Amino acid sequence: MCGIIGYIGNRNAAPILLEGLKRLEYRGYDSSGIGLIKRKRLAVYKKEGKIAALERTLPKDISGKPGIAHTRWATHGQVNDINAHPHASFDNRVAVVHNGIIDNYAPIKHKLKQDGISFRSETDSEVIANLIARHYQDDPEVAVQNALRQLEGTYGLIVLFTDNPDLLIGARNGSPLIVGVGEKEMLLASDVSAMLAHTKQVFYIEDRETVVLQKDSYKTVNTENSVVDKTIEKIEWELDEIEKGDYHHFMLKEICEQPETIQRAYGGGGRLLPDFGTSKLGGLNLGKQDFFEIDSVITMGMGTAYYAAMIGSYLLEHMARLPCKAERASELRYRNAIVKKNMLFFAVSQSGETLDTLSAMREIQHRGGRVLGICNVVGSTIARESDGGVYIHAGPEIAVASTKAFTSQVTVFLLLAIMIGRMRDIPASLGKRYINELTTIPGKIAFILERKAEIEQLAEKYSKARSFLFLGRGVSYPVAMEGALKLKEVSYIHAEGFSAGDIKHGPIALVNEETPSLFIAVEGETFDKTLGNMEEIKARNGRIITITNSDNERIRELSDDIFVVPETNELLSPLLTVVPLQLFAYFIASILGKDVDQPRNLAKTVTVE
Ligand code: M6R
Repeated sequence: MCGIIGYIGNRNAAPILLEGLKRLEYRGYDSSGIGLIKRKRLAVYKKEGKIAALERTLPKDISGKPGIAHTRWATHGQVNDINAHPHASFDNRVAVVHNGIIDNYAPIKHKLKQDGISFRSETDSEVIANLIARHYQDDPEVAVQNALRQLEGTYGLIVLFTDNPDLLIGARNGSPLIVGVGEKEMLLASDVSAMLAHTKQVFYIEDRETVVLQKDSYKTVNTENSVVDKTIEKIEWELDEIEKGDYHHFMLKEICEQPETIQRAYGGGGRLLPDFGTSKLGGLNLGKQDFFEIDSVITMGMGTAYYAAMIGSYLLEHMARLPCKAERASELRYRNAIVKKNMLFFAVSQSGETLDTLSAMREIQHRGGRVLGICNVVGSTIARESDGGVYIHAGPEIAVASTKAFTSQVTVFLLLAIMIGRMRDIPASLGKRYINELTTIPGKIAFILERKAEIEQLAEKYSKARSFLFLGRGVSYPVAMEGALKLKEVSYIHAEGFSAGDIKHGPIALVNEETPSLFIAVEGETFDKTLGNMEEIKARNGRIITITNSDNERIRELSDDIFVVPETNELLSPLLTVVPLQLFAYFIASILGKDVDQPRNLAKTVTVE
């Protein structure tokens, strides 16, 4: 999705903004632009395509301050130079970068056109610049406030005033906006990674707040124009965490980080109570009694976070004996969902900004429900607005395809399921076994990663296939869904995940020699049934690749290729079986020469519905 950044201070804004744009690249974009003030004149440079294309159009000695910049992910209007941001007003007095969608832009545009104002682009965002300019007499703040009163929709925006280079104004409704406080300079961005090289001191703008920045001061006001106090927080991420280091791609770096990130998710031991065979999680804002009173759980998320939520539901039902259901947040939000006093909801989101998940959470809260967040980004909107929650501490995830966040989300669900389970159903001995097993997982993943060349060979062998089926049962069913999502996201090869038990009810019609089936077959409840499903595919000449923890003759006979992961308890197996699937997707995409970290059409953080 779009990324925005603004800078005000004594330095030349251009290199700071360009560097910020590069840090925002991972969010996904199709064009970019920079707007600067130089000698009270507005200079705007914008270009379709990658930031490198924008850089080629910039004058060598580009300078100016303050400045704003944008990476655009098109919603209204084609991908081209004109529709890229910043958008300047008809009189060039105002320039705006905008992240979000203005729902009522059409009537406002119509009215402004009737007033003789002409538009250059097809975007909804240009309306904001012209509306502010229309209201701009001599007070920029008043002009922005008056314009915002007329806007409906979502926005994170930064406004630059050509004749007032001493300030930048930002406003938020639904799209993230963070202020970075530096030494006699301020930054404003949709994402902390854009400012990390310059400051770690930040505060967060909330919905319907406006912030006025000068190089050495800030003022935040709400819709009643009352000043809102802000607490400055320190970002814990380090700069090298948002850099590729020796890796070709962030995706591979992040896959390889999983032994450490999983360990961080269980607190390096700090969240585990091995003697009691349980875990302790601060931040849930629930007393012991509350856990006895919960009578059902709904977990929700989108994409990979939804598959982690499915596993979370499975674990909570199995270990804590609670009726659980995983929901896609985008569906839950618009259903007439049942919300009752003793229900507990979990909103799962790496970014903590996904609008579908955030909106579903707000809807549940509005109906009186209690929602806990499972987020990665500290200070993100879901983390702040939820009624409590757990951070997964996976560190910045830059590749659009989510990998390490998934295994950390699953780890946190394991901790929750063990903790609630121990209160309700699980004896200490079993709790201890789960905890002990969890601490062996990082080493086992490291062992899988040492064998990544084997997966690369498999990827070479199967990279010409045009369609794949991913199949699993029980706790491996969401893993199959996640494996298929990873492959389609980064390689653009068609892949579908199914419950293996469901194939004979329809999907088996897709099976032929050209469509390989990738099975996740883990010893446990449904292992034999899964082998039966493999037989069904084999009988129809389908090729089978199996990810398993059971190296036996029968499974080898049924499989064309096999990758054996280390032994583990079935409930913890997703933490191991997903890793070869992540690597498989990564290697196929690399072999096919795809843009692994920024796949086409995708955005890292989806802040529109
Ligand atoms: O930031 P979130 O976890 O809320 O993001 C949810 C999905 O948009 C995300 O998982 C998406 O499916 C990824 N591209 C998957 O790799």
